[in-house]
Amino acid sequence: MSQFTNNKDLMKTYKKLLVFLSTIGILVVVMSFYSFKADLRASESYVPQTPWENLKVLPQNISKDSLEHLMKNFAMSLGVKCNHCHVSSSTDPKELDFASDAKIEKEIARGMIKMTNDLNDNYFKPYFPEPIPNQVHVVNCVMCHRGTVNPEKYLSQMGGMYKTYDPERDNRKEKELEAQRKQ
Ligand code: HEC
Ligand code: HEC
Repeated sequence: MSQFTNNKDLMKTYKKLLVFLSTIGILVVVMSFYSFKADLRASESYVPQTPWENLKVLPQNISKDSLEHLMKNFAMSLGVKCNHCHVSSSTDPKELDFASDAKIEKEIARGMIKMTNDLNDNYFKPYFPEPIPNQVHVVNCVMCHRGTVNPEKYLSQMGGMYKTYDPERDNRKEKELEAQRKQ
């Protein structure tokens, strides 16, 4: 008899335990969900976001600081402002539409970035491995451009020292660019 009641008690205790454990289980699931969400939120502020819309040459995950630094560097090397390569926004003419590919100068600049990378990777790196810091490239925009958009033309002004520049040669792109600038 006493064994029977004991068994019933045992069953009750077992049921209670089951309820208790499943409650804990649910709590753990709910809490881990929240802590996961909290984790996401915490890490979001550290992971650099990639707001870039139209990068075809530069790394997609380039940080805002690095990209701004690079762009200022381009502008200084060529002696121009941002609007040399970036067209005005159609909605607000005071702003530039950085993602737009409307200007041919931007497309030329893409080629220039590739050319510069190519020169560094294939003709300098094998002989000057691991420059410190290794982002510093031997060849860069200013090495040729020296604060002008057309280094050849600039050098031709040095008189007899630089004779390869012929303003009458077939250079349709250069003429097109100059015509655009005069407009
Ligand atoms: C010599 C040309 C040139 C100049 C000057 C220049 N940029 Fe750029 N910019 C580029 C090119 C080329 C790209 C696209 C690179 C690519 O495709 O990977 C770009 C991309 C950008 C982007 C990313 C747009 C997107 O979301 O895709 C921003 C922002 C930007 N430039 C800002 C600037 C600012 C600010 C300046 C002035 C300080 C500036 N640029 C000057 C050539 C230039
Ligand atoms: C090896 C030398 C060299 C290097 C390095 C170089 N450029 Fe150039 N770039 C030139 C020459 C030469 C021209 C002029 C071509 C012409 O019009 O005949 C030019 C033209 C350009 C033009 C078009 C000029 C215009 O009228 O608007 C842009 C834009 C440009 N370069 C951007 C860059 C950027 C950005 C870099 C660095 C990523 C760079 N270049 C690196 C030699 C160079």
